[in-house]
Amino acid sequence: FAVHLVSFLFTKLQEDPTKKVDRFLYAMRLHDDQLKDISARFQAEMKKGLSAESNAAAAVKMLPTHVRSTPDGTEKGQFVALDLGGSKFKVLQVKVREGMGIRRGGVEMEEKIYPIPKELLSGRGTELFDHVSESLKDFLHEKNISLEKKHPLAFTFSFPCEHSKLDQGLLVNWSKNYRVRGLQGKDVVKTLREAIDRTGGMNVEVLAMVNDTVATMMTCGFDDQYCDVGLIIGTGTNACYMEGLRNVDLVEGDEGRMCINTEWGGFGDDGALNDYITEFDREVDAASNNPGKQIFEKMVSGMYLGELVRLVVLKMAKRGKLFDGQVSDALRTTGKITTAHVAAMEQYKTGLNNTRDILTELDLNPSPDDCVAVQHISTIVSFRSSNLVAAGLAAILSRIKRNRNLRTLRITVGVDGTVYKTHPQYPKRLHKVVRRLLPECHVRFVLSDSGSSKGAALVTAVAQRLASLRQQ
Ligand code: GLC
Repeated sequence: FAVHLVSFLFTKLQEDPTKKVDRFLYAMRLHDDQLKDISARFQAEMKKGLSAESNAAAAVKMLPTHVRSTPDGTEKGQFVALDLGGSKFKVLQVKVREGMGIRRGGVEMEEKIYPIPKELLSGRGTELFDHVSESLKDFLHEKNISLEKKHPLAFTFSFPCEHSKLDQGLLVNWSKNYRVRGLQGKDVVKTLREAIDRTGGMNVEVLAMVNDTVATMMTCGFDDQYCDVGLIIGTGTNACYMEGLRNVDLVEGDEGRMCINTEWGGFGDDGALNDYITEFDREVDAASNNPGKQIFEKMVSGMYLGELVRLVVLKMAKRGKLFDGQVSDALRTTGKITTAHVAAMEQYKTGLNNTRDILTELDLNPSPDDCVAVQHISTIVSFRSSNLVAAGLAAILSRIKRNRNLRTLRITVGVDGTVYKTHPQYPKRLHKVVRRLLPECHVRFVLSDSGSSKGAALVTAVAQRLASLRQQ
């Protein structure tokens, strides 16, 4: 017995600390069959959202954007742009030069970040938009943008809107950390125009409002004619793609294409992901601004990844599986582990040291094995995120392939968002899984840096080009 006990204790001591995490989080480690199943479920949701009969009840809204064409590189012009709803509110001046492409300076921009006071995120809509238009006025003044001629303004608004044209959009609902009152169901362009009038002293004309996914696709499309998908993995997550108009019940006409804002963050709001939801996801959802909503987003995006890691670490510590059962007040506090921490913990080479520093900051006293275990928790949570995005993307790409009746599809995906840009392993993992799920597609991923800001100007430029063609 003694011999057995010693050998048992010995293997216990020797056990790789990642193994216990693997066991604890088995429900978050999705294998390819599960990802294919999730992908098939998302395809069904897309169909539901596109069809007139089922759209009202669909969790994935599939919103027509009234963007009918990607850039062809001949666009030009100077625009003022606003980017609201991502990690930062920005005002920009964007210059688009014909035929140069993004990389050769075809799109130049100057931007200024205007912090949004926290109370405005849950205040009245008019207050938020007064802040937006006052920031715009400050920017115009600072950049010496004249009042003499009217400046076209392009607006990236990263929330779901129902558009009946480019310069009109009714807000469906808020998401992420916004909970502003009095705007749901209202035309956001009109609200912006009214705020600009109230502020006064500006000569601008709001010509287009687009989602950040659409802006990202357009920016990438300025260089790459195959770019028919836009993807955001940032504070929130979402994707858009070019769909055949004949499949879009909500818009008249069968000819040509239209960009659809999927609003895939809402995938699972009707229970479609219940088989994959863990107790940690339920906890994050219950404590959020919008319980029951944006279920997929809460499993994937930057606003929630750190919190998921914190909840797992806390639970494992309480069970005595980490830090000898020690738990600190900091570890018990919502928001103490952020997505920036997740990225730091998974940094090549320095990741383990960073993990130790982060845990020490949380008043914990981690052993080397604890650090390895917590780093592994972070890896499983962020890997699940990229796996889920891969499943959603695979659904969109195979839909496009089927629509076009192709045996192999060559396509480019424009990507933006803080998680994709700052997490050291995220892009590589995402690309690999998408390619594994869709061996018959040649997918190129292009980081559309600041795509969500620049792209609104490009949408406006494309619309102007098409309008001038019609006049000729
Ligand atoms: C949220 C918004 C969506 C946006 C995404 C990324 O999911 O609802 O419109 O595209 O965040 O910012």
